[in-house]
Amino acid sequence: MTTARGDGLGRMRALAAALPDALETGYRSGREVAAPLSKQELRVAAVGMGGSGIAADLARGLVESESRASLTVVRSAHLPRGFGAGSEVLLVSYSGNTWETLAAYDMAGRAGARRTVITSGGTLLERAESDGVVALTVPPGLPPRSAVGYLLGGVLGLLDSVFPESLEGRLARVAAATRSRIATYARRRGPAAALAEKVGLRFPLIYAESSFLPLARRWKTQIEENAKRLAGFDEIPELLHNAIVGWDAVSSGDARRYAVLFLDWPGESPMVRTSIAYLERLLKGKGVVLGRVELPSDDRLEALVSGIALGDHVSLFLAERRGVDPYPVDAITRLKAAVGGTDRIHR
Ligand code: F6R
Repeated sequence: MTTARGDGLGRMRALAAALPDALETGYRSGREVAAPLSKQELRVAAVGMGGSGIAADLARGLVESESRASLTVVRSAHLPRGFGAGSEVLLVSYSGNTWETLAAYDMAGRAGARRTVITSGGTLLERAESDGVVALTVPPGLPPRSAVGYLLGGVLGLLDSVFPESLEGRLARVAAATRSRIATYARRRGPAAALAEKVGLRFPLIYAESSFLPLARRWKTQIEENAKRLAGFDEIPELLHNAIVGWDAVSSGDARRYAVLFLDWPGESPMVRTSIAYLERLLKGKGVVLGRVELPSDDRLEALVSGIALGDHVSLFLAERRGVDPYPVDAITRLKAAVGGTDRIHR
């Protein structure tokens, strides 16, 4: 679809296809600027909003399950208590102009934490340069959500030393595997197009087990920003303790207005699998449209990166179906103009 701003859909598809390259580039840059983490700095916080915050969040499952560090993701201007001297705070803002991240940058400085910024420029980079704070810079000129490869790779590169083994070889393998999957995801008769077809005009809900929840959130936010429509996500097993009651009460007529996509990772525990199967039976019985998205590897990193690529393509097919341009996010630009926190990317 051609718009006044050019071929937004083509541009977004090209950016989605560049995910594996961006991931590798971001990772290399992260390793280049990383300072060794002391024992206390194994307590890491990453602050970021929207397309920047999600990158840190996507890294969290891997860091928490495989490394010596703990990674707390903060999506607000307030750094939680306890991240002071001896801890590491990553400030992630693609534009470098997001007020929440800038406020947290100041707060982390006052608390005495060691700071690292990940950004393409803006005030955050200016401040880091004048304060002598380490900065990992990523290429400018992208919609922040399309910089996820650089940002996620950057976080992993910065934290590489806390993993028992460097992620270098694994990341190269994951990038190669994702490259060939993307060729399939981009096809009109491929799995991404089929999922978009299944969702159609229904309200999409993305469900995932706790450690893949950031991936479910990524699918939801990509559908919102690219296809310009609402979506939801929820966490398994938590949703079996609340949302299930809501589902139970949904009438068969209303149930048809929803599409539930389960992000299914082969490494999940048998209890989680049994619970998902129970929920699926309930939803199927009501007539909810269901999609089981099998994440393609028991390697958590590979499942994650391929899952990002698949979700991005689903959101772009949904945008195409509705005839909307996935590129601009004018509502965010208007909000930033109204409340402060400029973001030149969207102008
Ligand atoms: C994604 C997007 C937003 C921004 C968010 C924060 O494309 O436009 O979700 O990511 O408003 O801005 P940054 O990422 O520049 O800190």
